[in-house]
Amino acid sequence: MKDASSSHQTGQRDSFGSSFGVLVALAGSAVGLGNLWRFPYLVGENGGAAFIIIYLGFVCLLGIPVLLSEFIIGRRSQANARGAFLHLAPGSRWTITGTIAVICCTLLLSFYSVVGGWGVEYFIRAVCFDFTRGGEAALSEMFSTFTVSPWKPLVCHTVFLLATALIVISGIQNGIEKFSKIMMPLLFVIMIGLAIRSLTLPGAQAGIDYLFKPDWSEVSTGTFLAALGQAFFSLSLGSGMVITYGSYVSKKANITRLGIETAVADTLFALIAGCAIMPAVFAFGISPGEGPGLVFITLPHIFSNLPLGGVIAIFFFLALLLAALTSSISVLEVVVAFCMEEFHMKRKTAVLIVFSVIWALGCLCSLSLGILDHWKVFGKTIFDLFDYLTANVLMLIGGLLVVVFVGWKLGRKVIHDELTNGGKLHIPAAFIDTYAFLVRFVAPAALLTIMLFQYLS
Ligand code: PFF
Repeated sequence: MKDASSSHQTGQRDSFGSSFGVLVALAGSAVGLGNLWRFPYLVGENGGAAFIIIYLGFVCLLGIPVLLSEFIIGRRSQANARGAFLHLAPGSRWTITGTIAVICCTLLLSFYSVVGGWGVEYFIRAVCFDFTRGGEAALSEMFSTFTVSPWKPLVCHTVFLLATALIVISGIQNGIEKFSKIMMPLLFVIMIGLAIRSLTLPGAQAGIDYLFKPDWSEVSTGTFLAALGQAFFSLSLGSGMVITYGSYVSKKANITRLGIETAVADTLFALIAGCAIMPAVFAFGISPGEGPGLVFITLPHIFSNLPLGGVIAIFFFLALLLAALTSSISVLEVVVAFCMEEFHMKRKTAVLIVFSVIWALGCLCSLSLGILDHWKVFGKTIFDLFDYLTANVLMLIGGLLVVVFVGWKLGRKVIHDELTNGGKLHIPAAFIDTYAFLVRFVAPAALLTIMLFQYLS
């Protein structure tokens, strides 16, 4: 195997400027709509605490091992999601893993940007104090009229994707790192403030019980797949993101620590988002199983009934937008880095081309909720299909290939070398052994079983 420092592409690569920069960028990617929009409604649809416990189990047992594996691949190869495999396993078919990641990110950003666009619209509505005017029926009507409209969501999707592209055009240190360094602490403060407000509402206790006291009777096999898909989606796994960001990380950084900190930060954010949303939902006697509309219908209804709710709404949708942006930039970067290195494009050209493709696919996603809702593939609209394909299929397959690659192809010596930086860092042997065991046996077996169960049932 070639030495990692002889990167397979020529020319100076961009890199992160500091460990803190890497952490906020990784956490920024992980914390996003997955935490603020997807996690709360999945918790609500899957019975609360029991789902959360299964989710936490998957984060520790599968999420962290996959995350560290992607980190090892990225940092060792110093190349994009596909180039990494070309570099580490030249002439083999492992590059398919990178290709899957690039396709996954393209599809993912198409629908992610549409939901980000809803965030833009709802932030503007919050600033105009629009939610104070309607009851729940009016807000539900507002959401459905907006999402099925043929042009407004397209404009918002365009604005959101443009903002994403502008940050990515500025590169790693000046764009992604700088933006994440300012926005992530701000996001944290806003979310803590929102959680405190929600937890102190009269009647909040029922929501807290729902989040933390499990009722196992609601658990089915579907719950496991939903929790696993969410863990992968939330930690941005199997999508080549950690490989790509990992490739910009210095050889001196402690990737074990960075990986675990990222997983902890992401999980904390999901729980804080749960605490900001569920107690309020229960305090207002609303059903938590409202589905994807939870954040866009139920919450505005709550805001319109809270003292100072108008201001709280502004902060909530600002948080949603920031979280979505720090994630969308990472998804775009995966595809942009791939185009730059595999096709020798300049960053600007790559951003422009990728932007155009994703913009067009995003328009289809958005229209599939309205005038194109009769276009169904496997009984799903394009929007639902992309969501399902990424979180429940491509990311899981990508994750499976990544752990098998690290566990069986790269092997123990490379694992040890990367986690300890060639013996310079002290990482307990028991940790490395456990990690190696998880990636060689537990993670592949668990991922395969859950996927087969889902696809064959
Ligand atoms: N983790 C992001 C979220 O929770 O919203 C979504 C995501 C970002 C998935 C980046 C994949 C990715 F590469």
